Amino acid sequence: MTMSIDFPRVQEEVRALSVQPKIEGMIDDLMASLPDPTRLTAEERRSIIARYSAVLEGNFIYWMTAALISVHAEEARPIILENLHEEVRDSHPAMLRRFTIAAHAFPTDADGLSIDEDLTGVRLFLGRLSGAQSVLTMAFFEGFIQKFMSYLAELAELQGSSEREYTDVHGVCDVAHTAGLFAAYQAEVAVNPLQPGMDPFEGVVLLRNLIQTIVFGADGKIAA
Ligand SMILES: [Fe+2]
Repeated sequence: MTMSIDFPRVQEEVRALSVQPKIEGMIDDLMASLPDPTRLTAEERRSIIARYSAVLEGNFIYWMTAALISVHAEEARPIILENLHEEVRDSHPAMLRRFTIAAHAFPTDADGLSIDEDLTGVRLFLGRLSGAQSVLTMAFFEGFIQKFMSYLAELAELQGSSEREYTDVHGVCDVAHTAGLFAAYQAEVAVNPLQPGMDPFEGVVLLRNLIQTIVFGADGKIAA
């Protein structure tokens, strides 16, 4: 009996393993690009909190749900469901709204419209229900949010707020959580691989662009 090696499958697994360092590198680059909060004007600080809130409050659960209905791998479902369970049970949108109002940064129509184009791009992308790409996008989002919390808390503090629940809850380095989403990605590519020519990072790049608009504004006015 001869051993046969399933080369496309092996290639797919090697690719899956290499996505995590790339995602972590993209998050580190984003973090390194953030402007010093103490050098921003009060209005610039307010607008970053407002745009963050405009994106996260209404979309995080929706996008995690999009990932859930996109995946084919059975093992991926409980990982995503656990995340959704916590979001809904502890009402993270209510927590974020309290944080934003306490920092006097509730989004205005101008804040909402400034992120509209990039937000729509991410929404339409997730609407394609591409399992592996959607899970990877949410792994990037989770990882970024976790690292961004201390920065967001500093912005709010400089705006005179001491409300910390949202940033404390999300800033905990939950290795299992992020690792879970990478495991879900690996499970998904194993049963539902990307078509040749599809970029696993397509949604990640769209979301990265949206985060850059949150931080720097649609016109890139806030300088790093
Ligand atoms: Fe959350």
